[in-house]
Amino acid sequence: MKRNTRLIAATCILGSATAWLGTAAASEPENFIKYRQTYMKALAGHTGSAAQIVRGKVDPAGHLKMHADAMAALSKDILMLFPEGSDFGETEAKEVIWEDWADFEKAASAMRSAADKFAESVDSADEAAIGERFEAVGKACKGCHKKFRQEEE
Ligand code: HEC
Repeated sequence: MKRNTRLIAATCILGSATAWLGTAAASEPENFIKYRQTYMKALAGHTGSAAQIVRGKVDPAGHLKMHADAMAALSKDILMLFPEGSDFGETEAKEVIWEDWADFEKAASAMRSAADKFAESVDSADEAAIGERFEAVGKACKGCHKKFRQEEE
């Protein structure tokens, strides 16, 4: 039984690797819709885990730094997730992103700097700064979503 499961798992991995090879060259703008949604989920996952640590619910050694570094890394490249032509289909991205790109850039840059500052405060282990800067990260998420992301029903 166990062997079979392993075999199936191996076949699945092989299958997706082949699929990946097959599509690696095709980078259509609309492919970025799914990609940026999963990317945003990754960012949200790290932020949500960090929130539990910042609020003192859990204290797994070294994890706050891991999440803060991941948040900073993910925040560096938000703009490239929104190529022209990725504004239709199953997306909550609003048209105004491309109409007011300069303002969208500002929101992305505010995110980058908030995440960098949060990561620095984690490095310095300054509890008060960690709390404040984590709040600032949340504001940077909301600051962008408010104007550029469709409200959920
Ligand atoms: C510069 C703008 C911007 C910033 C900053 C930003 N987001 Fe987003 N986010 C968006 C847009 C636009 C969408 C909608 C994407 C789509 O549906 O194509 C989105 C979607 C999401 C989603 C839904 C993903 C899905 O499953 O469809 C989550 C969750 C999310 N963001 C979390 C966050 C968190 C947490 C932060 C801050 C740490 C953040 N975002 C920062 C613009 C931003």
